[in-house]
Amino acid sequence: MNVVQTVLWKLINPIAIVTARCADNMSGFVASWITQVSFVPPLIMVAVNPLHYTYELIVKSNAFAVNILRTDQAELVDVFGKSSGRKVAKFASAAYDLGSTGSPILKDCLAFVDCNVMWTREAGDHVLVVGSVANAAITSDGETLQEARSMYTQRASIGTRHRGINNGEA
Ligand SMILES: Cc1cc2nc3c(=O)[nH]c(=O)nc-3n(C[C@H](O)[C@H](O)[C@H](O)COP(=O)(O)O)c2cc1C
Repeated sequence: MNVVQTVLWKLINPIAIVTARCADNMSGFVASWITQVSFVPPLIMVAVNPLHYTYELIVKSNAFAVNILRTDQAELVDVFGKSSGRKVAKFASAAYDLGSTGSPILKDCLAFVDCNVMWTREAGDHVLVVGSVANAAITSDGETLQEARSMYTQRASIGTRHRGINNGEA
């Protein structure tokens, strides 16, 4: 592992499920490269690998939702972060409603942000997707699941390497 990547893994990121839907097709992926980028208007940005199925649906629908997970929801990372929605029906075990943009909103999450795509721009091997917030709500009590506090403390350049909780290797 090079020094740059080792340093960048010191950044603390939230863990959320970014969802999108186009007609009968929908998917969601685990994302940690998410941040607010403007107060007025409220804008958020997600760095998305353009090979992801969900990216295809974001582009087609021009919308996405960010479902922020609680610390007790690390098991959802296995469902949404390890396989492609092209092969797996990820929502089979995750109840959802459709938000105002048409994107799936997980019924059981800490909070959600429903967005319309404002612009996209390539950034290396990812695409920065900036969304204007159409709706947002806190849907349960709890704390935000974060990379450094969960078992998902390290992300390799492709996929994820899982580490134990509090193993001091974040
Ligand atoms: C902890 C964790 C964080 C991740 N963060 C991102 C991210 O910020 N951006 C991204 O494009 N992929 C990220 N991924 C990878 C996707 O979640 C994963 O490749 C997913 O299976 C893609 O699903 P899809 O093809 O159905 O869209 C992350 C995965 C994990 C486990």
